[in-house]
Amino acid sequence: MLSFDDTTNQAAPRPAAPSQPHHAGSMVAHSNNRVAAVDKRIINGTTDVNQLVPFKYKWAWEKYLATCANHWMPQEINMQRDIELWKNPNGLTDDERRIVKRNLGFFVTADSLAANNIVLGTYRQITAPECRQFLLRQAFEEAIHTHAYQYIVESLGLDEGEVFNAYHEVKSIRDKDEFLIPFIDTLTDPNFKTGTLEADQALLKSIIVFACIMEGLFFYVGFVQILALGRQNKMTGAAEQYQYILRDESMHCNFGIDLINTIKLENPQLWTDSFKAEIIDLFKRAVDLEYAYAEDTMPRGVLGLNSAMFKDYLRFIANRRMQQIGLDPLFPGATNPFPWMSEMIDLKKEKNFFETRVIEYQSGGALSWD
Ligand SMILES: [Fe+2]
Ligand SMILES: [Fe+2]
Repeated sequence: MLSFDDTTNQAAPRPAAPSQPHHAGSMVAHSNNRVAAVDKRIINGTTDVNQLVPFKYKWAWEKYLATCANHWMPQEINMQRDIELWKNPNGLTDDERRIVKRNLGFFVTADSLAANNIVLGTYRQITAPECRQFLLRQAFEEAIHTHAYQYIVESLGLDEGEVFNAYHEVKSIRDKDEFLIPFIDTLTDPNFKTGTLEADQALLKSIIVFACIMEGLFFYVGFVQILALGRQNKMTGAAEQYQYILRDESMHCNFGIDLINTIKLENPQLWTDSFKAEIIDLFKRAVDLEYAYAEDTMPRGVLGLNSAMFKDYLRFIANRRMQQIGLDPLFPGATNPFPWMSEMIDLKKEKNFFETRVIEYQSGGALSWD
């Protein structure tokens, strides 16, 4: 009988696990032993990656179920009011239009970077099938996010060439992506393989960069800006899309944090002082880059926001991410100037905030808030 209890198979001592890791997920010829949960490892594991159960990392499976329960599609959201507002010459100020365009300029390619990093990089290094299951779902969600941004660009009739090339052509966006690219290149190198201290640290660093810095920090100026527009009853369709994306991303970030902490637990030798110092330095650079992006997107105060408020906000978020992975906060005393953002993340309490959804949508009866 299948059990969801991750302790079921941990009592009996097991023979040593086979020595060949099989990252790629090929059929396993060597093993006559059935998979025991106790033998599973997040990285460098030797158990059969094709067998989802017995579960060991129940948190990963539960997060997979939670993301499926939050399923949504971009075209379910009515963009009519956004289109009217955007086409009306007096509908939005120039500063508000700049925010929308810069936002899309970052996000239209950001989620493709995230998806490629998972599919071509992280996925094959993870040997726990529960975590792979989450990553498969996450990769699809990144596709949905790219779809959502494309859908907004198309709805508003924006210049596609301009928006999709912003990550080459707009410095504040390019700088963020250039920060990320070395970490993507490490993992997507076909010759990259875990199993040494150096390689395992490179993998862990890339996961930290993606979960805590990209999904956990680089998205947040943009999210606050579009949700602030929505709160003022402007671009409510786009704001609703962003609200669902924010909910998904906050799940990706939390999964990443659990993944990081479990890899640390299973491989304490990776968490050296010099490694920690490197991670702290990455957080410092990331806060500077995201702050520069905030300044570029908001040369003046707009929507009751200004770039100085984001300095505090980014420090507050960086502190939180660092604490979540066991590092001391870099910016003691930083506070959150946008407490309403936590309501947005916790959508279940909030129902459909912007009330723009037109199609009844049910995914296994799970959308009880709809
Ligand atoms: Fe995404
Ligand atoms: Fe994501």
